[in-house]
Formats: sequence, C-alpha cells, structure tokens
Amino acid sequence: MSNRWVEKLEARLGTIVSNPDNLLSAPMQHALLAGGKRLRPKLFNSVLVMFGLDIKDYLDVACALEMVHTYSLVHDDLPAMDDDAYRRGKPTVHVAYDEATAILSGDALLTDAFTVLANAQNLSAEKRIKLVCILAEKAGSSGMVAGQVLDLKATKQTIDVAALNTMHALKTAALFEAALMMGGVVSGVTDLHQLEGCGRALGLAFQIQDDLLDVESTQEAMGKSLSDASHEKASYVRIMGLSDAKEACRATFEKARTLCAALSVDAEPLHTLIDTIEQRNR
Ligand code: IPE
Ligand code: IPE
Ligand code: MG
Ligand code: MG
Ligand code: MG
Repeated sequence: MSNRWVEKLEARLGTIVSNPDNLLSAPMQHALLAGGKRLRPKLFNSVLVMFGLDIKDYLDVACALEMVHTYSLVHDDLPAMDDDAYRRGKPTVHVAYDEATAILSGDALLTDAFTVLANAQNLSAEKRIKLVCILAEKAGSSGMVAGQVLDLKATKQTIDVAALNTMHALKTAALFEAALMMGGVVSGVTDLHQLEGCGRALGLAFQIQDDLLDVESTQEAMGKSLSDASHEKASYVRIMGLSDAKEACRATFEKARTLCAALSVDAEPLHTLIDTIEQRNR
C-alpha cells in the first residue's frame, strides 16, 4: 500500500492550521506538523482501500482524526497530566510556549477538527453527521477522555487486569475504533460493529506495545519522553510484569488479526497495517 497520500495529508493539515488570523497557529503547527506516525489516518485509509475508494477525496476526514489525536497528546503531556517535556521529536507545547498556550492549542485543535469534519467534501450531510457523532463519542467523556481520567486515577495505584484493559481500550483504542468506523461510514458500511471490534483489539495491542516501548526503547528512538516508570503509571509492564505484558501484546495483536480476517471484505490493507504496527520501533 503506497503512502504517497500522507504528504498530501500533511500539506492539508498545514493549510488548516496556517490561518494568519489565528493567534494559536504557531503552537498548533508545532504540535501537528512533522513527527507523527499518522496511524489513525492510515487506519481510516485502510478501510477506504478495502472498498476501492481514494483517500485523496476524503483527506479532511483523516485531518479531523489526526487533529483530535494531536490535541489528546498536547493535553496528555501537560504538567497536570503526564508532565512530559518531549513529543514528536520536539519540546512539548507547554515547554516550547507555556502551559496556557498548550491548553488553548489543544482546545483549538479539538474544536477545529469538527469544523473540518462537518465541512468535508464529497460526502452527504447524512454521512457527515454520522462521522461527527462517531468521532465525538469516541473522543469524549465515554471514550478517550474517560480513559485518560481512569489513567490519572490509577497512577501509583494497583489495578487488576480487567481495569487495565478498560483504561487502555478507552484512552487509546477508542480513537482506533473511530478511525476504522469512519472509514466504514465513508465506504457505505451500515453495520460498523466488526470494524469497531477490530479497532478495539488493535488499539489495545498498540497501547500494550506503547507501555513496553516505554521501558525497552529510548526517548531518541520514540521521539517522546518515556516516563511511565518514574511516574508509577498503571502500565501493562508495572501491573503484569515484562514477560506477561509481552505475551499479552502478542496475543492481542493476534486477536486483532483474527477479527480483521472475519471482515466480509478482503482486508489485506488492514492486515498489512497491523503487521507494520506490530513491527514498529517508534
Ligand atoms: C501516542 O500515539 C499516544 C498513544 C496512544 C500511545 P502515537 O504513537 O500514534 O503518536 P504519534 O501520532 O505517532 O506521535
Ligand atoms: C496516551 O497514553 C493516551 C492518549 C489519549 C494521549 P500515554 O500517556 O501512554 O501516551 P504517550 O506514551 O505519552 O504517548
Ligand atoms: Mg498518558
Ligand atoms: Mg503520556
Ligand atoms: Mg505511553
């Protein structure tokens, strides 16, 4: 699967946040441009490819996903949350600018994402409303934000594996679910449950892997602060131990592959992306 469209996505993101009237343009660019793996747009694209569509016709939907994800990173790094100084190979927004600017840049990325999505080209009003609902639900107080609340509550605490899975599924898998489901909506899929399940398993595997990389990789390789251990976060590694976390990671990627294979279309693009994610080193 060619990723040439990613350049177009990045150019479009640049245009969206390069408004001279926007006082937050520079910190928003700092957070959004360069350094991200663009995985949520890639997940969205994998579904489009399965259905024979071209993401270049739906770039704004992918931009909205990446903007919501990027806002979540800017806020995740804030002193009141993970208190991290390095992200996407650069100082975090609150370090490069200041805390209020980071809060407001996150607010702006989140809110502007919905302007971009509501105005997306080549989609009926009905589909755009469905996309808005999915992204809002998966990002909001019963999705990613709920997971972040659980994450903060569990810091320095011992929680069981079921609670750990719930937290990881919400804080990270919810946006993976949104990406695949939004691909489904654009492609005219009416029953989104299978795509949602696949996104959940893959997002969970991705977050377990993120917890493993936090102890096994380096800040330079990952382009971000690795601070779970020093902050006593409820990571898979702290709660389960390194070797059980590795086995859970492997098994959860396998589950994602099984759910992907059960989709009623040829899911080769998504299989390829799952393999790429499992082999990642950043
Ligand atoms: C980081 O996500 C936050 C987690 C959910 C672990 P990514 O690893 O996708 O970050 P970027 O977008 O590549 O910076
Ligand atoms: C992030 O989880 C989940 C988000 C919603 C941003 P982490 O706190 O583990 O992500 P990193 O390791 O800082 O990227
Ligand atoms: Mg966090
Ligand atoms: Mg963090
Ligand atoms: Mg992490």
